[in-house]
Amino acid sequence: MPKVDDLKQKAALAALDLVEEGMRLGLGTGSTAARFVDALGRRVASGLHVLCVPTSEATRTQAERLGIPLTTLDETPELDLTVDGADEIDPELRMIKGGGGALLREKIVATASSRMVVIADEGKLVKTLGKFPLPVEVVRFGLLATIRLIKALAAQAGCEGEIKLRTAQGDAPFITDQGNLIVDCSFGAIPEPEVLAFALNRVPGVVEHGMFLGLADLAIVAGGGGVKSLRRPGA
Ligand code: A5P
Repeated sequence: MPKVDDLKQKAALAALDLVEEGMRLGLGTGSTAARFVDALGRRVASGLHVLCVPTSEATRTQAERLGIPLTTLDETPELDLTVDGADEIDPELRMIKGGGGALLREKIVATASSRMVVIADEGKLVKTLGKFPLPVEVVRFGLLATIRLIKALAAQAGCEGEIKLRTAQGDAPFITDQGNLIVDCSFGAIPEPEVLAFALNRVPGVVEHGMFLGLADLAIVAGGGGVKSLRRPGA
């Protein structure tokens, strides 16, 4: 049985084959994306030219350490390819992301890219999204009112479950790179992600939710049987 870490590494290395000289890249966040960034750093050290936008301060620090040239979406608003991990991936390549708390920048960067490729071990594949608690980035102001409204509108979208403020060390709230909070919604199963997304977007205190719908066109998934490429149906 291959170890999850080996599978992450295999998916990350397979994604490196998609990188071409001169590309503008979005660099994801999380343990799988970090392996891609490490491998990209080795290619850069041996002469590859790319220009990258990191999706978190953690990825920025890693990329800087590796000497990967960085830019911002203000300087480079269109990217060729973003490679990122995911917490769950369904057969339509809809995803839950944000386990690492970087969902807002991840979604901004992925949306600014012509292509998003998700890399993962096969344990991330699910039939229906929602077993992994859905991260939702919210502003601090009016937190309880925001949670109540999320609960009410999510229930109308067929989703019920505990909504918990994410904490960091001790009981202090986890703060995102944008200075916001995250609530994790344990809905169990999300029957219609688009319907829930529409509902969450109606909550004024919600900055962004962790469902990535119609963004990835390819998933590179490593498992016991090797590395598979899964295309989004219709992409
Ligand atoms: C970061 O906010 C997340 O979206 C990550 O991409 C996701 O949690 C996957 O992380 P791992 O690759 O560490 O499982």
